[in-house]
Amino acid sequence: MTEIDSNGSVRELSFPMARRCPFAPPPEYERLRADSPLVRVQLPHGGTAWVVTRHAEAQQLLTDPRVSSDANRPGFPSVRPPQEPPADEGTSSAEPLTAEQLTELAEIAQFHEGQFINLDPPRHGHYRRMLISEFGARQMNELRPEVQRITDRLVDDMLAKGSPADLVEDLGLPLSSLVICRLLGVPYEDHEYFQSATRTLVQLDAEPEQLKAAMEGLIDFLDELVKAAVREPGDNLIGRLINEQVGSGELTRAALVGMAFLLLTAGHEATANMLPLGMLTLLEHPRQLAELRENPALLPGAVDELLRFHSVSDWAAFDRVATEDIEIDGRKIMAGEGIFVLSASANRDERAFERPDTFDIHRKARHHIAFGYGVHQCIGQNLARAELEIGLGTLLRRIPALRLDKPMDELPFKYQNFVFGLHAMPVRW
Ligand code: HEM
Repeated sequence: MTEIDSNGSVRELSFPMARRCPFAPPPEYERLRADSPLVRVQLPHGGTAWVVTRHAEAQQLLTDPRVSSDANRPGFPSVRPPQEPPADEGTSSAEPLTAEQLTELAEIAQFHEGQFINLDPPRHGHYRRMLISEFGARQMNELRPEVQRITDRLVDDMLAKGSPADLVEDLGLPLSSLVICRLLGVPYEDHEYFQSATRTLVQLDAEPEQLKAAMEGLIDFLDELVKAAVREPGDNLIGRLINEQVGSGELTRAALVGMAFLLLTAGHEATANMLPLGMLTLLEHPRQLAELRENPALLPGAVDELLRFHSVSDWAAFDRVATEDIEIDGRKIMAGEGIFVLSASANRDERAFERPDTFDIHRKARHHIAFGYGVHQCIGQNLARAELEIGLGTLLRRIPALRLDKPMDELPFKYQNFVFGLHAMPVRW
């Protein structure tokens, strides 16, 4: 899709497009989706990419082996400013690297390898398989009482402090962070540091130096955590991976640090944002909220509808590059061209969902792609669902008088972030 500017020349649409209403994707999506399943857009720091607007084509491309998640491939799209090449620290090409430098480079490569979200099959499967049993439905059911305990403690604190409270700061962020920290074995006293570092990583307007500092800090922190766990593996995910995978040589220590980094950052912000946003949506739909309070068995369906309705990650997790030419609907994605799937558009596609702009807790919404689709589909989805069901269910049960402390139009929404949500959600009861 192109537009004609005032000089009469053709120009591509700028990407990303911003949301302007908290309950709707960027308004341009509807027209783009009506026009074509594939639209070429202009990236903010140069170059173009394709965006995928419809549900069927999104699923098709996310399962196409000619589409890669490997950010090192030429043409991989990015909305961030280009990275400065690393400064030359005095090693000329004539000088061979020292053994220490070689080890460091190998460890950096292993760290990236552990972040398997950026790998293609078969390397992707090698790492993902190590975690499947950790995040299965049974393991997540076993974790539910712990998630409930953490939620209850946070709600106890909110009630003890009295209204107003902030559902982002007092519930969404600490719940998401405490649960994943517990799963990995991150000590409780470190979760505040961890939260502020991950917050910087998902800010669209974060300065490159800020971003670098946050990443490096978090990596050092995890490196120390893994070193300590190698000495004394605990009964947690990192401890089990050390015993089973590092011990057998399937996983290097540096790749384990990369994997832990991925697990800590991949779902933290999305889950933390979905909880307040979910509660806000229910407050704005009081009849459905009353129905849920009356019948908590409706919660699992409501959570999937909330995930579909908001699609908080939208395109952010869906960056890809074509490795061969791919033709869809008469348009050709050339090898080496970047692709973003617009999950917020696909999840409002009228071809896949009836009355897609209506929030309806009775809808069968499980085929939404808010958790992705294909080999990279979110490994933490059962965990995220458990946190949202328990978090929302607990608020409905324990604070029935919960209401907004500010009018909707004064709430600070994250229109500038990779992952959509609220900076704060003041409530009282
Ligand atoms: C509402 C909460 C969440 C949302 C909306 C979400 C969304 C997504 C999406 C869209 C993908 C697919 C990325 C792609 O196709 O490249 C993904 C993958 C992933 N998510 Fe989540 N996620 C959530 C929660 C979590 C949690 C709690 C965890 C922590 C365990 C997690 C860990 C991961 C990992 C490790 C991947 C990579 C899977 C792979 O590449 O095989 N997510 N997530």
